[in-house]
Amino acid sequence: MTAVTARPRAVRDPIRLPVPRAVRLALLVAHVVATAAWIGLDVALAVLVFVPMLEPSWTAACHQVLPLLFWPLLTVAVLSLLSGVALGLVTRWGLVRYWWVAIKLVLNLVLVTLVVVLLGPGLDDAGRHGRALAAGVPDAVEVPRLFMPPSVSVTLLVLATGLSVWKPRGRVRRTR
Ligand code: HEM
Repeated sequence: MTAVTARPRAVRDPIRLPVPRAVRLALLVAHVVATAAWIGLDVALAVLVFVPMLEPSWTAACHQVLPLLFWPLLTVAVLSLLSGVALGLVTRWGLVRYWWVAIKLVLNLVLVTLVVVLLGPGLDDAGRHGRALAAGVPDAVEVPRLFMPPSVSVTLLVLATGLSVWKPRGRVRRTR
C-alpha cells in the first residue's frame, strides 16, 4: 500500500491574488532593485558620516551633502515596502503567513519610521552645521552622531536579504 503524504497547505491551497507571471516578475525586479538601491544609499551615507571622523577637513563638504540623501533614502525604503507588500499578496508567501516575510514587514516599517523621525532631522542639522562651517560662522547646533543609522540599517537590510534568499519554512500560524 502506498503511503499518502499531506502536501504543505501553502502549496495545496495558496491564498493569493491572481496576476500574470510577468507582473509578479516585474514586481520582484522592482523589489530587488529598490532594496539594492537602499543598501547602496546607506553605504553612501556611511561614507559621508565616517570620512569626517577620520579626516576633519572634509566635515564641511560631507555635512553639506548629507541632507540630499533624505528623499532618495525615503523613496527606496517606501518602494521596498510597497513592492514587498504587493509580492506578498500575489505570491504564496502571503504577508504574515511565513516568519521570514512577517519579520521583513516589521523591519521595513521600523526602518521607514526611523528615516522620517530620526534620520531626517539629523541630516538637516548636519547640513546646517556643514554650511556654517563652510561660511566660517560659528554654529550652536550640536551635530548628532550619525554613525548609528547607516550601521543599523545596513545590518538589518543584509539580514533581510539573507532571510529572503534562504526563505525558511517556518509559518506564523497553522490554520489546521
Ligand atoms: C526590509 C527590506 C527588504 C529586503 C532587503 C528584501 C529583500 C528581498 C530580496 C533580495 C528578495 C529576492 C529573493 C529571491 O528571489 O531569492 C525578496 C523577495 C521577497 N520579498 Fe523582500 N525584502 C524586503 C522587504 C520586504 C517586505 C516588507 C515584504 C512584504 C511584507 C517582502 C516580501 C517579499 C516576498 C514575498 C518575496 C518573494 C517573492 C518571490 O519569490 O516571488 N520583502 N526580498
